[in-house]
Amino acid sequence: GDNAMYLAHKHGIDLEGACEASLACSTCHVYVNADYFDKLPEPLEREDDMLDMAAMLQENSRLGCQII
Ligand code: FES
Repeated sequence: GDNAMYLAHKHGIDLEGACEASLACSTCHVYVNADYFDKLPEPLEREDDMLDMAAMLQENSRLGCQII
C-alpha cells in the first residue's frame, strides 16, 4: 500500500519493515517531522503498544508502515 514504508522504499530509502505492515514489529520506527506529526491521524492502540517496545522512543515516533 501507499504507506510511508512503501514510499520510502520507492525513493530508495532503506526503511526496514520486518512484519510487512501487520503491526507485529517496530523495525519500521521513524521520527516524523514536527510539521507533519500533528497532521497525521492518531495511531491505533496496537501501534502505540508496538512503539512502547521500540528503542529510542521520542515524542514524534511513529511506525512508518502505519503512516498513510
Ligand atoms: Fe512491522 Fe511496521 S513493518 S510494524
